[in-house]
Amino acid sequence: MVKPTYFLPRKFTISDNYYKALKEDYQKVISEPEEHIKERYGIDVSSFYGPYKIKNPFGKASGQLSTNAKQIKADIEGGLGFSVLKTVIAEGPDQVSEMEAWKISAPRMVVEKITSKNGEEGYTVTWKGRGWEKSLKEYLEFMEEALSFCPNYPVIPSCKYHLPPLGTEYKIEEYAYTTQKIYEVWKRQRKEELVLEKDFSATLAGEDAAGQKEQVLSWLLTVPQKIKESVEDPIYLGVKLMNTTLLDEFQREIVRELLGPKSNWLADYAVCFNRLFDPQKEFDGKVGVAYGGYDLSDRNLWALEALVPEKPSRMISATGNICSGHIMLEYALRGASNGQIHTFYQVPASEYAPIEGTRIQRALHELLFNPEKGLVAGLIYIRERLNKADEPFTFVEVTELDPRKLL
Ligand SMILES: Cc1cc2nc3c(=O)[nH]c(=O)nc-3n(C[C@H](O)[C@H](O)[C@H](O)COP(=O)(O)O)c2cc1C
Repeated sequence: MVKPTYFLPRKFTISDNYYKALKEDYQKVISEPEEHIKERYGIDVSSFYGPYKIKNPFGKASGQLSTNAKQIKADIEGGLGFSVLKTVIAEGPDQVSEMEAWKISAPRMVVEKITSKNGEEGYTVTWKGRGWEKSLKEYLEFMEEALSFCPNYPVIPSCKYHLPPLGTEYKIEEYAYTTQKIYEVWKRQRKEELVLEKDFSATLAGEDAAGQKEQVLSWLLTVPQKIKESVEDPIYLGVKLMNTTLLDEFQREIVRELLGPKSNWLADYAVCFNRLFDPQKEFDGKVGVAYGGYDLSDRNLWALEALVPEKPSRMISATGNICSGHIMLEYALRGASNGQIHTFYQVPASEYAPIEGTRIQRALHELLFNPEKGLVAGLIYIRERLNKADEPFTFVEVTELDPRKLL
């Protein structure tokens, strides 16, 4: 298993006055955390998700926690930066889907501890589901309601389209029909261009057809064009890249090819990277399931390091074991503007900050204010390392920094 270079320590050591202030803040509910962080610490934690400015970099990743409007409302009220909706499976005008096998109902999820190959304990969620199990029509109704809550809050639809074996035809009518439907809903609710994620998932990386470099690269290069051709207006398109089951080095090849300085890839941003795949693990009668924890963040951080000290040529939305401000900052040092989280919103509540509140509020408070591994502590640490103590500092600056300066 690969080992990334950690550019930051596991526990941040910062000046006493800030440490004391953070310990105090950690214990109490703070209604406008971003304003408070600016005033008390001189730090701006805002960032970007495509065309949107977001108040903090922490969002919700596509999955079982974004399948109904109530969940999205809780994200907004809980203070997240953005939410990505569950992945819908593209269908044609006849409501038939070439990827029908992805529409399975599997409500049972188990949150488990998992020790990584490098010996670190984290959490993983095990289940055997795949995409949105209902119809596109029902997805569009859900999407419209979620978009209607708050005009400035990014709510990003996610879609999985037909992926043919090399040399065979794409079901273009499914691309066109589904993208147009999503676009129509978006336009009723938003002025900005459509922001859309295309999901390449772990389960896919475990299937025969994905077992070859040529196949994977061909999909990654072709699919953005097919999606963009589906509507006349520009789409701000994100591609959620899979962690392939191929050699580790291939993950770095993907990064260099798609996100390197010379890339002419048509996607506007990449979500790096979807979960790993364990072909042997059995769950509820299914052999082969996706998993996360530190193996996932280790591989993701290692793969993104392929570009250091260059920055990726596209916006990066990080995903994978973001369970602390520390891990978010490791991704940011590799150019990520924000982080999409699933597992950390499901872990035992004892992992969260000791405040009253909803799961999302407590998780976010933990991510921001933990005095040793939270985002604010980490930003203070980096600022002090750069000899800029007490100067105004921003999260975005970290995404532009040469991380080697911190070693
Ligand atoms: C139960 C479950 C369901 C998921 N469903 C989707 C999905 O429909 N589409 C998608 O793009 N990613 C899906 N994911 C992947 C997450 O969006 C996320 O990228 C991944 O779990 C890594 O983040 P984490 O370590 O914070 O969980 C799912 C993950 C889990 C655990």
